[in-house]
Amino acid sequence: MILLGPPGAGKGTQARMLEEDFGLVQLSTGDLLRAAVAAGTDAGRKAKAVMEAGQLVSDDIVLAILKDRMAQPDVARGIILDGFPRTAAQAAALDALLAEAGQKVTAAVSLEVDDDAMVARVSGRYTCAACGEGYHDEFKQPARAGVCDKCGGTAFKRRADDNAETVRERLTAYHAQTAPLIAHYDSQSVLERVPAMGSIAGIRAMLADIVGRVSA
Ligand code: AP5
Repeated sequence: MILLGPPGAGKGTQARMLEEDFGLVQLSTGDLLRAAVAAGTDAGRKAKAVMEAGQLVSDDIVLAILKDRMAQPDVARGIILDGFPRTAAQAAALDALLAEAGQKVTAAVSLEVDDDAMVARVSGRYTCAACGEGYHDEFKQPARAGVCDKCGGTAFKRRADDNAETVRERLTAYHAQTAPLIAHYDSQSVLERVPAMGSIAGIRAMLADIVGRVSA
């Protein structure tokens, strides 16, 4: 299952909930790239400046890290792709990779949001430094201030690319290079459009309906 949507649409938030609800595995190329940057690998060094500028990392780097991750055994449970594919070349490579394994995309969900609201959503975001649980200054605070609901951690962090200027660059990249994939998956009859300006819980319920329907 693919989650498509601009920065701040809720891909990561909902992917983590789908993991909890259905035992699927979230595979976020953004998270994999940030791990490569933190580890100082060759791919990470090349990706760092590109990500901080809000542009897309080259297809060859992204496909290499994705293939490594997809070679791990847990993906047999079913994958939620969060932030991948993002270009026509990535979509073609994914189709080929899945076909090799006798698989195909089950559903491509387009989370439909207003761009104007995304700058506020992304600028207010922070995550638990220990477990990665996501929060928001206004929309999703921990039940106990300063304590992660999930793991009890007390240290939180913000992403280097979560500032208003970079978010606008990321929105531009999304509309130029990724939004055309909506038509690609529509032509494969796997597209699901989900209005994603409502509550996190409401969107979770809509996605649960889709998973139930496509896996029946
Ligand atoms: P990536 O990490 O994928 O970032 P993104 O696509 O810009 O998406 P975000 O993580 O910002 O948003 P999200 O949709 O996950 O929203 P979230 O759930 O956190 O990519 C980062 C960079 O890596 C890219 O710019 C690029 O350089 C590179 N990259 C990654 N993949 C690549 C690829 N395939 N090819 C090339 N380059 C690649 O929600 C945001 C906030 O809003 C949170 O605080 C959340 O709590 C809150 N929120 C969520 N839902 C709601 C709601 N319904 N109402 C109110 N608040 C909400």
